[in-house]
Amino acid sequence: MAIVDELAALQAETLAAIEAAADTAALDEVRVRTVGKSGTLTAYLRNMGSVPADQKAVVGKAVNAARNAVEEALEARKTALAAAELEASIDAAAVDVTLPGRSQRLGTRHLINRVTEEICDVFLGLGYTVADGPEVETDYYNFTALNAPADHPSRSLQDTFYVVDRSGEAASVRGESDVLLRTQTSGVQVHAMEDQQLPIYIVAPGKVYRRDIADPSHLPQFTQIEGLVVDKGITFGDLKGTLDYLCKAVFGPDRRTRFRAHYFPFTEPSAEVDVSCAVCGGEGCRMCKGTGWLELLGCGMVDPNVLQMSGIDPEEYSGFAFGMGVERAACLKYNVPDLRLLLQGDMRFLRQF
Ligand code: DAH
Repeated sequence: MAIVDELAALQAETLAAIEAAADTAALDEVRVRTVGKSGTLTAYLRNMGSVPADQKAVVGKAVNAARNAVEEALEARKTALAAAELEASIDAAAVDVTLPGRSQRLGTRHLINRVTEEICDVFLGLGYTVADGPEVETDYYNFTALNAPADHPSRSLQDTFYVVDRSGEAASVRGESDVLLRTQTSGVQVHAMEDQQLPIYIVAPGKVYRRDIADPSHLPQFTQIEGLVVDKGITFGDLKGTLDYLCKAVFGPDRRTRFRAHYFPFTEPSAEVDVSCAVCGGEGCRMCKGTGWLELLGCGMVDPNVLQMSGIDPEEYSGFAFGMGVERAACLKYNVPDLRLLLQGDMRFLRQF
């Protein structure tokens, strides 16, 4: 039967066109062309009236079957294309997060604080506690109770910042104010001996002030860490062992230390401790001014006078003390040739630590 063959051909052709439709728009065109209002398949349905009566059943069945098959194929293809198009649009809208973002730079603690903490940590590990004292200090704690003679040069106006009391009522020492910016953390020793119970094992970090012009090895304001031990039977051997341990812990096991005899009013005997230069390994270079050694701290056995002035019996107790510059220690550790670099706020320098 000619009509049935035609329908079969149209169905086959339509199904192929559906399969070939590349996107939903193309698919819709096929739909309109075939099962739309004036589509090719619709035309057969419309024309059923002119089909001879004896063929109606067969042709009707064939037309319906063709339409069902086409509609089913259209639906299936539409779902498949819609899913593919959704996926493609998601892909197109995706943001490439594999690019490195603009990250925020994380700040770090300043080298002075880091080294202060590191040194204090070494002593905390040895059972010491951390003490502090006032930066604005009296002459008594900064000098007198530390056995500094009245004519000691550090007491002069050239070396110490004196705080003037405007009321004019401040007591004065040789015409100078009795109140000053401490030149050393050693006064904390006196506060500790007055306030604490024996035995004493303390470190005291803090700022100190001196009338110095800043240069590679001096700063008018810097940080010191004071140490004080007062106990029964403390010897110079305890002092040496403690400071040797400190140097190895802070600067590394390869650095050597040496004790050089020195003078401080509040210790007897007194010494200065040098650490071997890491730049030249002790050979001598510009950093260590050719000596192979860099000065780190002052120390000694607490002078019996100092113990006595703070009410401790030197017959029963002995002690050692030390004081070091933190900026100097930081520069020694990292081979920085100029103390001022620590305070200039140059991020190219600071970011290295
Ligand atoms: N206070 C001294 C200074 O600033 C350093 C010092 C030396 C502290 C010997 C001490 C010490 O405790 O025993 O130069």
